[in-house]
Amino acid sequence: MDVPYQIRTHDQYLEAYRAAAEDPEVFWADVARHFRWRRTWDSVLEWNFTDPQVRWFHGAKLNITENCLDRHLDARGSQPALIFEPNDPGSPSQILTYRELHFRVMQFAQVLKNNGVQKGDRVCLYMGMIPELPIAVLACARIGAVHSVIFGGFSAQSIADRVNDAQAALVVTCDGSLRGAKEVPLKPVVDEALGACPSVQKVVVYAHTGTPVSMKKGRDLWWADEIERVNAMGNPFVEAEEMDAEDMLFILYTSGSTGKPKGVVHTCAGYMVWTNYTFINAFQYRPGDVHFCTADIGWITGHSYLLYGPLSAGATTVMFEGIPTWPDAGRLWDIVDRHRVSILYTAPTAIRSLMGFGLEPIAGKSLTSLRVLGTVGEPINVEAWNWYGTHIGGGRCPVVDTWWQTETGGVLISNLAGVTPAKATFATLPMPGVDPVLVDEQGEEIAGNDVSGNLCIRKPWPGMLRTTYGDHERCRQTYFSAYPGMYFTGDGCLRDRDGHYRITGRVDDVLNVSGHRIGTAEVENALNMHAGVVESAVVGVPHGIKGQGIYAYVVYRGGIDDANQIRRDIAATVSRVIGPIAKPDAIQLVNGLPKTRSGKIMRRILRRIAEGETANLGDTTTLLDPGVVDEVAAGRIPI
Ligand code: PRX
Repeated sequence: MDVPYQIRTHDQYLEAYRAAAEDPEVFWADVARHFRWRRTWDSVLEWNFTDPQVRWFHGAKLNITENCLDRHLDARGSQPALIFEPNDPGSPSQILTYRELHFRVMQFAQVLKNNGVQKGDRVCLYMGMIPELPIAVLACARIGAVHSVIFGGFSAQSIADRVNDAQAALVVTCDGSLRGAKEVPLKPVVDEALGACPSVQKVVVYAHTGTPVSMKKGRDLWWADEIERVNAMGNPFVEAEEMDAEDMLFILYTSGSTGKPKGVVHTCAGYMVWTNYTFINAFQYRPGDVHFCTADIGWITGHSYLLYGPLSAGATTVMFEGIPTWPDAGRLWDIVDRHRVSILYTAPTAIRSLMGFGLEPIAGKSLTSLRVLGTVGEPINVEAWNWYGTHIGGGRCPVVDTWWQTETGGVLISNLAGVTPAKATFATLPMPGVDPVLVDEQGEEIAGNDVSGNLCIRKPWPGMLRTTYGDHERCRQTYFSAYPGMYFTGDGCLRDRDGHYRITGRVDDVLNVSGHRIGTAEVENALNMHAGVVESAVVGVPHGIKGQGIYAYVVYRGGIDDANQIRRDIAATVSRVIGPIAKPDAIQLVNGLPKTRSGKIMRRILRRIAEGETANLGDTTTLLDPGVVDEVAAGRIPI
């Protein structure tokens, strides 16, 4: 694909940044015309951040799968689109060319149609990292159904919450998934969830592990049987549904500082343009590149940079079913060598965990196919940044630190590999079209350099969220009300002397554990579901590998004969309610929580105690019962 909008020099970046700021409509129309449209737009951008309402390419018609698949068939139909690396290193990898992927997507699109799924219907996917997941995702997009992928580690309760919020008509799942030496059951978890999900008519089950599962008559169907039915119908050319630019493409649930996870909504055209533009520019994609994003498709990174970004660019994308430390800590490097990976995109937590194994797992690996390294998901510490660049990149590969969020659809702040300067621990500079603003607590803009504040974005960019599903007011409240007229990211940020941005972490009650976003309120709700828990408070605590760990203070009712057993039971409750990723690293049983006279929990104090600061806890005179603090501090559990 000819990509005239690829930025190749620092000056071109400055020029693109200026042009996008000065006249975004002209700039983005110029990018967008390189895609395949059924009809072009009447207007490029209409927006206000009050409602908020944002429309990109209004009036245009398209289907994103024609851009990710059909348009590549002539030039690169026999090029690998997807390389699948299975969990078991002894099993052969699977390669799907663009032509094969196109075919498989159409087959499954027909399966969805045969089962009554129509444009606009919601389909939830709860699967392992196997090719059938992207096939099902793209099949939804092909027929205009809205996909909502649920991370395969979430609990039955979390599935039910999401399926009900989305009012999904159909669920796609597997018998189970493979993660290292473990087999994770999926279908039984779906069965448990669906008892409370009346909207679901059908469940399509892909047999992956071969473990027997129960199939409910009239509701559950085997993937293979359904494909056979399609094959019996003849050649399944499923015409892509014509979508409006602003029709919903997907919902992805993510945690916030309050309440249940919200369904972030992305729409067809803007998301497509943004993921493609940022993929090509941040990673400096070149035709022939093999791109390996280690993220799970259950998170936004998998959506944007394992699937839509690379496929819309005609790249070869690698998908890995297993985990980086199995059968040993050299697994990722084996994959890089075996598939000649040129771009590797992973999370700081994975780098830190692999660093812990020393250099032995890298010995004997070539890694010479690598050209660009990327990180995402959390702040990267300088040691991890250096280790990655030196030992994995051989000192020759630029490291891009890409900052973005589920809500932003794609990268907002990042260096462009080898084109704009890299700086350890800094995401550095905004992408063209992104206008970052630092504000103080009063909402005043903090101008100039060498300053820090809360990070907002002043102007719309094509990939931004449009709403939170079924609750537009929540979208307004969460993102557009703290600083009127701006999108509030929830992140703290500093801008250094050179005008480079460094994200310092969340300033709200959202934790980032191994790059996974978890709301403290969500964990507290789960803790409180344990029969013995009266009240709880959760804070984040620095963790050497995970970035942040979860520290829970729990007021427990009843006798404490065996504190360890109680802690294990409480942790199991959290696992059952949310999923193992939300399990606290420490649970401290306390008699009371430090509260103000108005009843507000003093999290600041709890955070400091969890961090190991038990002496200088600041002003405690406003507390209802200052004695509580000493008790809590004395019982601190070191992590
Ligand atoms: O705090 C920021 C952190 O991850 C949050 C977004 O999480 P999520 O929506 O799950 O998306 C993660 C993948 C895009 C942000 O608010 N974050 C993400 N990337 C970085 C980061 N923090 C520092 N540096 C990054 N590169």
